[in-house]
Amino acid sequence: MNIKIIHQLKDNYSYILFDKTKDSFVIDPAESRPIIEFIKINNLKLKDVFITHHHKDHTAGVNGILKEFPEVNIHSPSSQIENTRFVLHNNDEVSSSINSFKVIATPGHTLDHIIYFDKNNKILFSGDTLFRLGCGRVFEGTLKDMFLSLQKINELNNNTIIYCGHEYTLANLKFLENIVDKKELYSNIRKRIEDDLNNKGSSVPFVLEEEKVYNLYLNQSSKIAKTIKEELRLTDFELFSFLREKKDTL
Ligand SMILES: [Fe+2]
Repeated sequence: MNIKIIHQLKDNYSYILFDKTKDSFVIDPAESRPIIEFIKINNLKLKDVFITHHHKDHTAGVNGILKEFPEVNIHSPSSQIENTRFVLHNNDEVSSSINSFKVIATPGHTLDHIIYFDKNNKILFSGDTLFRLGCGRVFEGTLKDMFLSLQKINELNNNTIIYCGHEYTLANLKFLENIVDKKELYSNIRKRIEDDLNNKGSSVPFVLEEEKVYNLYLNQSSKIAKTIKEELRLTDFELFSFLREKKDTL
């Protein structure tokens, strides 16, 4: 299975998945034009679109895609999302023509947010729930909702490869470096992120195992997280809330 990263808008990511059969599907289209172009140039057959949540920068490309390919099935977490044909719920197993996903509900950023986990290929599309070294802002749910949603990701296999909804990695890194006040703890991952951005123009995908070490919103049991919790006398949830609320003030 191939995954093409499509840069959308200022810092959004959409993804096109396809295999030898030329069947393909799209995750979170913000803009239809570059997606249609890629599909046509590579003679792909677009079958499905999967949406993580209702924000326009994850759905606005659907109309253009349907104009070009009216047969495409739109899967989303809500009938309120325009053109949705199949509404997905927590724990649903949903199949495309080339793989299958387990749907995991992750309320917090929005109430309808879902993520797509392909267990066989160990791939996760995390939308705006988990970013590399960060997480989405809590717009509709509570901090507790988001904390519990991230815990669901933290429980997945370490070798899961993650594709998220935005390129926010450098800003997230700078924020954490300042919080932990020991920049050297982040020097290894900084090198890898800078290499990724310089060589590929993108810091996705990334591996869950590394996130469990460095992403303090995701995992509060890492060495770095434990140090901060002890210093500031915080519980796991308090550390998460402290980080999310502080980042919101920037
Ligand atoms: Fe969003």
